[in-house]
Amino acid sequence: MDDDVHLARMAKTLSFQTIFPRPEVRQVAPIPNPGDAQRMALPERHPQVLRQLETRKSVTHFQPGRPMPLEDVRALAYYASQAPSSSNLQHWRFLALVDPDQKNLLRGYALGQRKVSDCSAVFVVLADLRAVDEMARLTDAAIRANIFGEDMRETWNRLADNYRDEQVNRDEALRSAALASMNLMTAAHALGYVSGPVGGFNADGVSKAFGIPSHHLVSLIICVGHEGEGNWTKKPRKPVDEILFIDRMRPGSQASLPSRSEQSLGLQRIDGGGQRGMG
Ligand SMILES: Cc1cc2nc3c(=O)[nH]c(=O)nc-3n(C[C@H](O)[C@H](O)[C@H](O)COP(=O)(O)O)c2cc1C
Repeated sequence: MDDDVHLARMAKTLSFQTIFPRPEVRQVAPIPNPGDAQRMALPERHPQVLRQLETRKSVTHFQPGRPMPLEDVRALAYYASQAPSSSNLQHWRFLALVDPDQKNLLRGYALGQRKVSDCSAVFVVLADLRAVDEMARLTDAAIRANIFGEDMRETWNRLADNYRDEQVNRDEALRSAALASMNLMTAAHALGYVSGPVGGFNADGVSKAFGIPSHHLVSLIICVGHEGEGNWTKKPRKPVDEILFIDRMRPGSQASLPSRSEQSLGLQRIDGGGQRGMG
């Protein structure tokens, strides 16, 4: 079946609107193409890493029938797991599908999106809601590795109390899984693959079809493989001036002048902001 028709049909049955709510119609400023004025001057430090971040794009069309060696599947999980996580609980789990039948099965629960079956390997990124149960084991591992001393055992183990709140527990698990997801896509790019994240899926259906325990949330599906034809180039990003705030957040105000270091990075004018976090 044609992909678009399939998507439209699935969208109805899966109440697609709740996944991708219809955006409010409003006037927005045009976003300049990042290829020219927006692009940062590449600093001398770690230029390859920064170029990789800049050139990764989301791919829709993959070359079908190109298997991925299992050592690459393992490498991607390894680099993904280098991400930081809340209290180092490492909430992520990866279900990697390389078998064509398994990928096809998943496609049925992912709005029929062709990329899911065409790519070389699909990673279902899961967030373990019971990760905190392993706090004692992870604390012990850190002490044995001399990261910190025995005196920290109780303090660190007490961090587990933070996760008793269901919302906090869920947020931290999904945050951590999201960071691992980004690492996985960056690593894929560095290894010469392309990737496509997929958030349009029926989480219950995926969990049932693949025997995923109920305490694992399906966070994201990531298709990885070789680029086919007909993909869009990377889409424009909002200018840094629009998304970066320094020291405080005052919408509509651009009072601050760029510091010397910001000028050397090619930023024009910026304003203030802040952030919060936990453990
Ligand atoms: C959480 C999330 C969910 C996404 N879901 C889908 C999806 O279901 N189908 C799809 O084709 N692209 C999906 N995308 C890809 C986005 O459309 C894409 O990252 C965005 O348009 C920017 O593309 P670019 O990085 O190539 O510029 C998703 C991306 C994210 C981060």
